[in-house]
Amino acid sequence: MTHHRSTWRNRWTFMLATAGSAIGLGNIWKLPYMIGVNGGSAFVLVFIACILVVGIPLMMTEILLGRRAQKNPFNGIEALAIEAKASPHWKLLGGMGMLTGLLILSFYSVIGGWVLYFITEATKGSFVGIEATQSTANFNNLLASPLTLLFWHTVFMCLTMGVVARGVNSGLEKANNILIPALFVILLILLGYSMSVGDMQAAYHFMFSLDFSKITPVAVLSALGHAFFSLSLGMGSVMVYGSYLQRHVSIARTTIYIALADTMLGLLVGLAIYALVFANNLAPNAGPGLIFQTLPIAFGHMPWGSLIATLFFMLVAFAAWTSAISLVEPTIAWIVENTTISRKVSATTLGFAVWLLGIAVVLSFNDWQHVKIIFGLNIFETLDKLTSTILLPLGGLLMAIFAGYFMKRDHVQDELNLDNRGFKLWRITNNYISPIAIIAVFLYLFGLVK
Ligand code: PHE
Repeated sequence: MTHHRSTWRNRWTFMLATAGSAIGLGNIWKLPYMIGVNGGSAFVLVFIACILVVGIPLMMTEILLGRRAQKNPFNGIEALAIEAKASPHWKLLGGMGMLTGLLILSFYSVIGGWVLYFITEATKGSFVGIEATQSTANFNNLLASPLTLLFWHTVFMCLTMGVVARGVNSGLEKANNILIPALFVILLILLGYSMSVGDMQAAYHFMFSLDFSKITPVAVLSALGHAFFSLSLGMGSVMVYGSYLQRHVSIARTTIYIALADTMLGLLVGLAIYALVFANNLAPNAGPGLIFQTLPIAFGHMPWGSLIATLFFMLVAFAAWTSAISLVEPTIAWIVENTTISRKVSATTLGFAVWLLGIAVVLSFNDWQHVKIIFGLNIFETLDKLTSTILLPLGGLLMAIFAGYFMKRDHVQDELNLDNRGFKLWRITNNYISPIAIIAVFLYLFGLVK
């Protein structure tokens, strides 16, 4: 079956769309609390190393797979495997990625819902003059109300599927152009405020002091997983966006810009948050509620606070929205390219399934808090850990092996179009360093190496 495939209007829109996938709750909500839970700078250092050594080469790999295949991840990897005379079963890798995306979306949407709720709180002026205890209490009240969480989870899912139903190119491209730069701008305002009232020195020390002795195996594991999550790697999002990318665009340069923007944004949010955490004597290891407890305090005391808070949470919601779309796009592309089912019907059906799973996530913050799945983790934590620390790195590992050891070297070089030195560097990281790093972490995870 042949379909007309749309392509991005130019490199800038591809870059913004992929940056839109990468930049999301992972940077603004997850990275800050992961830093706190995993001991500050120990985590930050390993995270940066993982982005540079594993994330950047693997992002290049994923884009090249997508652009060469020109298809959804499932059929795409199958086609590439046939081209390389490898087993067509490699397509299962694409299938695993699609499933991973849907699992992530089930909790991503619930957190996206928290952000939407916070927009309404900001517009009502609820943060004005708020202190730490009140802010924490507000957040805990939200978690204790399954119906409120469910309502906002539902709204977030509808917003996501509404766009997905209409296709990749319409609307999003244009919005991305303005809103991602706007997110950076408002973040700088927040950072400026944090610098003036917060304890920036303590934040800096907490995040960047060079103390290798604090690096624990768990921090390494979480940092690697988060590098994948943050760059949207290992599940086919980047691959499917790459499949809409025009041939003449440089994959390496585009990747580096995206990775830098994504990482910088996360670290800036981290600094802004921790400056406030230390100035207000809050706990750095508060977990998933961290930004929702600290930021209202800052907004509540700054001039124009309610307005800035509203804008901030709106931009975060937008960032989350563009990421959420990329979580389902591989599966939708697969359905649309293989069946006669329309985008609308597939988006509605998939959206409903993910929404149902999201209800379990909603309940894991209140009524089912004590329902443990494995290793004492509740439903939300299980989905989060399973996807970030296992499925995404596993997907990335297999993509690296496929591109590095199964595809023809010429074909890879054709797509990457690097000079000799660049190509060598990519090969060493893709073929040796990244796989070894991921396998080492897995061996530790499964208790084979103590
Ligand atoms: N990278 C997104 C974020 O940081 C999340 C995401 C993960 C999106 C995997 C797509 C695929 O929020």
